[in-house]
Amino acid sequence: MITITVNSQRHDIDVDPNMPLLWAIRDILGLTGTKFGCGAAQCGACTVHLNGEAVRSCVTKTGRAAGQNIVTIEGLSSGNNHPLQLAWNEMNVPQCGYCQSGQIMSAVVLLRENPNPTDQDIDDAMSGNICRCGTYQRIRAAIHKAAAMQAEGAKS
Ligand code: FES
Ligand code: FES
Repeated sequence: MITITVNSQRHDIDVDPNMPLLWAIRDILGLTGTKFGCGAAQCGACTVHLNGEAVRSCVTKTGRAAGQNIVTIEGLSSGNNHPLQLAWNEMNVPQCGYCQSGQIMSAVVLLRENPNPTDQDIDDAMSGNICRCGTYQRIRAAIHKAAAMQAEGAKS
């Protein structure tokens, strides 16, 4: 039995500790916002936060997440109102949508570490998240928008 905490909820799950965390999140817990893309740490579709850091859940063993805090896209905010989610909506970022939860989870870490990123900072930080629909320009614009919203929020 492994105990994992996902989006502040504790779960005791009876799985092989070597099972990819992505399987536990999607197939055991039913949180399907996190996507399977490549299964080989190449695309970023499966990105979640493990103790606040972005990890590829397709190559993270569930055993490694035992006792740690995991956040998925479903737990990022209470009403889909994280500045990045608001900016994503405003800029109509998604096309097919498949890569987008991973994009947002990576962008959260970027903005925490660099609240006012340049285009180059964004390109560098987001280079591990692939979008087959090519929404990169809108992703960049939305991250700038979210950075501005955060800065505005910090003032008020
Ligand atoms: S599915 Fe994990 S990086 Fe592609
Ligand atoms: S929106 Fe389709 S893969 Fe990114």
